[in-house]
Amino acid sequence: MKLKPDNISKSIKKYCKLLSLPVVADCYEAEAENAVKTKSSYQEYLYKVLQNQIIVRMDNSINAKIKKAKFPFIKTIEEFDFSFQPIIDEKLIRELANINFLDHAKNIIFVRPPGVGKTHLAVVIGIKVAKARRRVLFFTAEELINQLISAELSKKLQTYIDSLSRTDLLIIDELGYLEIGKQADSLFFKLISKRYERTSTIVATNKPFNEWGDIFGDEVIAAAILDRLLHHSYPLLIQGKCYRMKELLNKKQK
Ligand SMILES: Nc1ncnc2c1ncn2[C@@H]1O[C@H](COP(=O)(O)OP(=O)(O)OP(=O)(O)O)[C@@H](O)[C@H]1O
Ligand SMILES: [Mg+2]
Repeated sequence: MKLKPDNISKSIKKYCKLLSLPVVADCYEAEAENAVKTKSSYQEYLYKVLQNQIIVRMDNSINAKIKKAKFPFIKTIEEFDFSFQPIIDEKLIRELANINFLDHAKNIIFVRPPGVGKTHLAVVIGIKVAKARRRVLFFTAEELINQLISAELSKKLQTYIDSLSRTDLLIIDELGYLEIGKQADSLFFKLISKRYERTSTIVATNKPFNEWGDIFGDEVIAAAILDRLLHHSYPLLIQGKCYRMKELLNKKQK
């Protein structure tokens, strides 16, 4: 028995709904007309329709990953003025933005003064990770410590650390601006130990390594944390001018 075109159309839309293929439902008729015009084969037609669906699904999954990461802002490498900060190795940053370092569980540590672009570059790399549809989370050190403390209070510390350890890239920003208390030291250490040689971490800090004892209030824990972070890492020591001041001066001159 031959089906009526109207019934076929209704059934296709119903099946697409059941299979969660909204893009296929929206585009299959227009693509069929195109296929007739371009004399495409059945395979080419099916390929095109499925490709439309995949593109939208990938975009959705990337956007979801970017949203989940909770970046403080969205910035690209193109927006970074390398000529303003010549001490930064542009070639290395571009290489790191290819995110191959994740496959070797290497870390990146941006060190030094305010406004030199530490957060900007960490975000650039983080977004690349999300675009590769891998897991990335962004925290300030303070936010992360608060999350660890509350997980411990609710007796979910191990579960929380395990879930963070499955994150391909963890970005910890602003380490050193606030002291981390004695209790939180050991939580931070547990997290870094669990991630060590398994997954990558980016740390941005204003404190040179010999002052990390001040951040953690305990030289031994500080040394153990630093040791694990630095072992397989790219320590990027940025000594430069503050970009925020440049923007401020430019505004005043106008
Ligand atoms: N070289 C640069 N080119 C373009 N924009 C820059 C550059 N350096 C910094 N910026 C911009 O200046 C602002 C401050 O930079 P960012 O937040 O990355 O600094 P930071 O090193 O993280 O400072 P802090 O230690 O205070 O957190 C951001 O808006 C960032 O996009
Ligand atoms: Mg910053």
